[in-house]
Amino acid sequence: MGEEMKNSNTEDVTETLDNCVKYYTLEEITAHNTSKDTWLIIHDKVYDVSSFLEEHPGGEEVLLEQAGADATESFEDVGHSIDAREILLQYFIGELHMDDRGKNNSKEIYVSTSGESSSWTTWMIPAVAALIVGLVYRYYMLEHKSS
Ligand code: HEM
Repeated sequence: MGEEMKNSNTEDVTETLDNCVKYYTLEEITAHNTSKDTWLIIHDKVYDVSSFLEEHPGGEEVLLEQAGADATESFEDVGHSIDAREILLQYFIGELHMDDRGKNNSKEIYVSTSGESSSWTTWMIPAVAALIVGLVYRYYMLEHKSS
């Protein structure tokens, strides 16, 4: 009897721990993209904002535009207050699945690696170096010929 009690208690604890953070895949989140069922991803966290749409001071349209997708950039672009970030907590339902996290940031990575400055330097440095070597070589050759 005592042992049974122990087992069921342990199970309860495990269940509670498992239920602490629920992970959703991008595919699951994308399905919640209607005005009646609106989920958003902000900083890899998932929010069910269906009941907040009408209350949003910035209007429901902007939230619906991001429905079922990553709204981190637009949320931060607006420069939301600390109050807004506290409201956000009420709608937290889980986190984005680890496997889907990199996909959201791929845009940023793409921008930083394909920046104009980096493509410039990749060909400018060898080109300038080749030019200098060529000029020095010519200078020595001319010197050599005249002497
Ligand atoms: C569930 C997530 C969101 C919450 C809890 C939230 C909350 C709020 C709050 C409380 C305000 C009033 C101003 C402030 O306190 O900062 C606000 C304004 C605003 N929000 Fe959101 N917001 C959310 C998501 C978004 C998203 C994804 C956008 C996308 C564009 C957005 C766009 C705006 C705009 C344009 C304003 C008006 C700013 C102004 O008039 O100065 N919000 N939001």
